[in-house]
Amino acid sequence: MTIAEQTVCVSLGPRTYEILIGPELLPRTGELIFRWYVQHAGKPPQKPRGLVVTDSNVGPIHGETVRRSLEAAGWSMDLIALPAGEASKSLDVVTQVYDRLIDQQADRQTTIFAVGGGVVGDAAGFIASTYTRGVPFIQIPTTLLADVDSSVGGKVGVNHPRAKNMIGAFYQPFGVLIDTSALATLPDREYRSGLAEVVKYGVILDAEFFTELEAHADALNVRDPEFLAKVIARSCRLKADIVEKDEYERTGLRAMLNYGHTFAHAFEALCGYGELLHGEAVSIGMVCASRLAERRGLIDASVTQRQVDLLTKLQLPITLPAPIGFTAADAIGRMRLDKKAVAGQLRFVLPTRMGYVETIANVPEADVATVLAEINVR
Ligand SMILES: NC(=O)c1ccc[n+]([C@@H]2O[C@H](COP(=O)([O-])OP(=O)(O)OC[C@H]3O[C@@H](n4cnc5c(N)ncnc54)[C@H](O)[C@@H]3O)[C@@H](O)[C@H]2O)c1
Ligand SMILES: [Zn+2]
Repeated sequence: MTIAEQTVCVSLGPRTYEILIGPELLPRTGELIFRWYVQHAGKPPQKPRGLVVTDSNVGPIHGETVRRSLEAAGWSMDLIALPAGEASKSLDVVTQVYDRLIDQQADRQTTIFAVGGGVVGDAAGFIASTYTRGVPFIQIPTTLLADVDSSVGGKVGVNHPRAKNMIGAFYQPFGVLIDTSALATLPDREYRSGLAEVVKYGVILDAEFFTELEAHADALNVRDPEFLAKVIARSCRLKADIVEKDEYERTGLRAMLNYGHTFAHAFEALCGYGELLHGEAVSIGMVCASRLAERRGLIDASVTQRQVDLLTKLQLPITLPAPIGFTAADAIGRMRLDKKAVAGQLRFVLPTRMGYVETIANVPEADVATVLAEINVR
């Protein structure tokens, strides 16, 4: 069986770039990125040099494949593997990469290749956006979450010790290479966590897509390569549509991507970071947000039930793991501090029917508390 490659174009004027999706692409990196390089740099790379930024899990498997492919295509390459995990999204770790770039006398033409999940993509993108005020950047995501979410849209950055994603930039890559075969090595929980964001796109933007996911949940559970390639391409297209209209998150449109996330961010913080994976928190958060929409009279119970059924089929959680070490007041307090809250008011992205969401302000605290009680947060 051969699976066709798919291309999603993210149209952003002079920053327009392509996402190429297909199996077995990493060993062809050198050949595949050539066109993007010419398109963005105006000419073929002269004495091309690059740095693969990866992590300690992905480096030995996929990072080295990318490095070898580029070397075979005539590139001088270096590779740096950050310790795997969110802690690498820090200014300290980024500084170590700047040191390496300076040691190597890297210049404005040195290309940064991010090979890994969202942590590597965000950190490497931030390095690319700042080293000599910007060097060529290519994203090669290797988690499902990075394929469908973090590698699309140009948000790059690191965490401040007291605030996640607080330091960053909008910086678009020359292109994104999504090798669906790289997902074969991804641990099960990480894979399912990415599926939560896929389900989210159906709920917020595309009822037909949601129906397709319901019909093919089994294919998702066995990581069917053909269906996965389709799902990734559709998810990237849906996110790209939003990003194209609101690149710098100014019009409020991009906020709709935060469906389920006001709850999720509170759960992640209060359960202790690392206890729940992001997609798991989003899964529970979407169910809470949908129940909240029911209470506000925006949807009937069937819209929530369909999400509960699909998420359950995909083995994602819809309630918090016991024991729950925080109260509803703690959770609501967190939500008021959310980056997306305005003047401490509770605002939520809520479905109005399958495939549509709206931002609803001034949601009564009592309704939020009732929804939290349904997942045993009191
Ligand atoms: N920039 C954005 O728009 C955006 C959007 C969503 C999330 N994010 C960020 O993304 C980060 C989370 O990304 P993530 O979920 O990809 O986590 P991650 O990068 O930590 O990767 C998860 C784990 O999987 C491992 N891994 C990655 N690919 C693998 C593979 N193919 N085989 C085996 N192991 C592999 C990693 O080493 C890591 O241990 C967060 O920091 C979040 O803030 C950014
Ligand atoms: Zn998310």
